[in-house]
Amino acid sequence: MESIGEMMEANRSNWDARVPVHLRGYGLDHLRAGGQRLAAFEYAAIDVDGRDVLHLQSHIGTDTICLARHGARAVGLDLSGASIAAARGLAAECGVDIEYVHSDVYAAVKALGGRRFDVVYTGKGALCWLPDLHRWARVVAELLRPGGVLYAIDFHPLMQAAADEQPATGLLLDGNYLNTGAERYDSPDTYAGVGVLAESTVTYEWAHGLDEVLDAVLSAGLRLTGFVEHDVCCWRRFPSMTDLGDGWFGWPEGVPRLPLMFSVRAEKA
Ligand SMILES: C[S@@+](CC[C@H](N)C(=O)[O-])C[C@H]1O[C@@H](n2cnc3c(N)ncnc32)[C@H](O)[C@@H]1O
Repeated sequence: MESIGEMMEANRSNWDARVPVHLRGYGLDHLRAGGQRLAAFEYAAIDVDGRDVLHLQSHIGTDTICLARHGARAVGLDLSGASIAAARGLAAECGVDIEYVHSDVYAAVKALGGRRFDVVYTGKGALCWLPDLHRWARVVAELLRPGGVLYAIDFHPLMQAAADEQPATGLLLDGNYLNTGAERYDSPDTYAGVGVLAESTVTYEWAHGLDEVLDAVLSAGLRLTGFVEHDVCCWRRFPSMTDLGDGWFGWPEGVPRLPLMFSVRAEKA
């Protein structure tokens, strides 16, 4: 069995390998043309204009750019050096001033030199890469100023547990909803392409039930000020989903409204 450090290293290498694929497959022309990727309900939940905003697990920085365009003094942080390099290039192309920091989330306090933020924004495929959510929430609490806000919006564990191939009616589950420890995958696919990775195909992910997410946030001393289960998703999870524009998708007519994402808003006292 690999150590947590070895698993993190495999994940870092996998995310490095994904970068050239994602630079082609993320629909970046929309962003270059000034397009938005954050939903209106996200901006309604957090006030980023004129605030110090830290985007954890910022990948190639698409959402970081949107936060900056909305007035944030934005800092992005990611484990993958290739993601950080690509994010710097993309921000320059978009003419947006963003600072990027190369670090593991768990080492973020030190990597950011003890700086504190008004908002910590994260999600959209972030939490599943973290083995210990309680430790993550303690790091977030340390990164926030008094009165600062955590906004985490991620894929709903029910949707994560759903099978890729769905029957004509009903919902087929084939994955864990609850955390049973590290899950090893070996796949040349990413959500932006099938068979696109020639190397670094092994990853380790962790399922996190909603109870674990909420308990982590509350145990870190943060006050829960919002929790929403969303019937929209920033990824076409199932082929039948309806394109809502700006990178968002919803259920087609006549399909039961199950949650696709969830968001947690919490404040530091
Ligand atoms: C699905 S992406 C996040 C997507 C991002 N929200 C976006 O809009 O593109 C997951 C990111 O988490 C990063 N990551 C995974 N484990 C991490 C860790 N322990 N610390 C920091 N970043 C990590 C990966 O390098 C990757 O860039």
